[in-house]
Amino acid sequence: MKNLKDVIRYDEQVIFKLRSLFSEYGYKQYKMSRFEEYELYAANRAFLPEGDIITFTESSGKLMALRPDVTLSIIKNIKNSNEPAKLYYNENVYRTVNGELKEQMQVGLECIGFTESNQMAQVLLLAKKSLDVLGKNTKLDISHMGFLSGLLRSDTFENSQLALSSLYGPYTEVKARLLQLCVSDEMHKALEELEQIDNELKTLGISDGVNIDFSIVNDVTYYNGIIFQGFIEGVSEKVLSGGRYDGLLKSFGKNEGAIGFALNLAIALRAAPEATEKILSIALPKGRLGEKAYEIFEKAGFECPDLKEDSRKLVYENTKKAIRYYWVKPSDVAIYVERGVADIGVVGKDSLLEDTPDVYELLDLNIGKCRMCVAAQKGFAKKTDEHILHVDNATLRVATKFPNIARRFYTSRGRDIDIIKLYGSVELAPLIGLSDVIVDLVETGKTLEANNMEVIETIDQISARLISNKVSHRFKHDEITKMCEKIARNI
Ligand code: PRP
Repeated sequence: MKNLKDVIRYDEQVIFKLRSLFSEYGYKQYKMSRFEEYELYAANRAFLPEGDIITFTESSGKLMALRPDVTLSIIKNIKNSNEPAKLYYNENVYRTVNGELKEQMQVGLECIGFTESNQMAQVLLLAKKSLDVLGKNTKLDISHMGFLSGLLRSDTFENSQLALSSLYGPYTEVKARLLQLCVSDEMHKALEELEQIDNELKTLGISDGVNIDFSIVNDVTYYNGIIFQGFIEGVSEKVLSGGRYDGLLKSFGKNEGAIGFALNLAIALRAAPEATEKILSIALPKGRLGEKAYEIFEKAGFECPDLKEDSRKLVYENTKKAIRYYWVKPSDVAIYVERGVADIGVVGKDSLLEDTPDVYELLDLNIGKCRMCVAAQKGFAKKTDEHILHVDNATLRVATKFPNIARRFYTSRGRDIDIIKLYGSVELAPLIGLSDVIVDLVETGKTLEANNMEVIETIDQISARLISNKVSHRFKHDEITKMCEKIARNI
């Protein structure tokens, strides 16, 4: 007979290793039907991740769903017992994302009905060990809803991603700073819990690769207490997420502690077996803004002499400084960074507001300054909200390169609008009757003036921002932080 390893595919080997790991710690496999009554998901919509639920009607007329999530089914079906239920699953989940049907393998576990913090620590240990099955260099980042909500409410703390990311690190390293930020009993209690968990994890033999990170925000509103996410070097998205969800259990009439996590195997299997390079790659927007941004990098000590050559090359590298630059189309910078092929990027705040990419915004570079405005032909509306909102009582026609920004702005005003998406020369639209107003960038105001237009309202101040990929920010944390500090001194 052949060696089993030659017959079993890599993904099957991974699943086998995970199942052995979970069983070793007393977790039992939970099997369930892939069909569930739709009502279960309708009643708990906020708990579910994005995407539509796939439904069908049974012959009895009952509305059913193809299971989009496993946790809810487990909670619904679990029997009351004195012992905590320790369950793991390896199931497919189904949902439609952007109109496409998706079937995704999920592996995860739930510990329901626990009372001791060591059981919580054991779930974190299993999360870290699961990541280690898939990658060489992995990180488990932990946040606490009790501390985070206190922090975001406090006026003494600047609520920015840069400030939040300055609180990143092993618990013992960030503890002193966290203590200084405590302004409520809730925050103190959260810290005590984090400390206890940290001690227990150390007792369990986990000291590396577990960090405190308050920039973690899990998608759902049901979590209380600790929340966590897992990352593998070389995979540009999070691969594991979990947390404590006593609140969800309560809504099922069960007053107990519950914690669990799910591993997205389709993404996790992208991990490259070999270690990734330590070079920092930077996506710069082609054109004047990118040139100005490069000058800032150069002044901060991240020069790349070849870059000033008059050439059509798109990649430049300075191996001594361990940096590489890519010249990319300005509107593509955030995509390169979000997908992790560039660790860092320079992008206009307008792109961040319009496309809301999943990246960290680290610094305002104070270049490329302008305003996002509503503008119209002179005399179209008096500068009062009332007039803008009630022009002819008709649907306002808005021409713009920024449909999402325009939609959000007018939704916040309760105004129904008809968006006309254009790709340039937007000022022409009201001039020839295509729209009533425009939502566009205004720098000097000369384009508006030349076309007999005026600003009615400023929506946002815009400038170039330094952004980073969320996973690079974890695995190249020191390099990125040092770069940010040097750049901040030069702007
Ligand atoms: C931008 C913007 C305005 C103009 C504003 O257009 O969309 O049209 O600059 O600058 P100003 O206030 O200094 O006159 P861009 O130059 O990118 O050209 P486009 O309209 O073809 O996109």
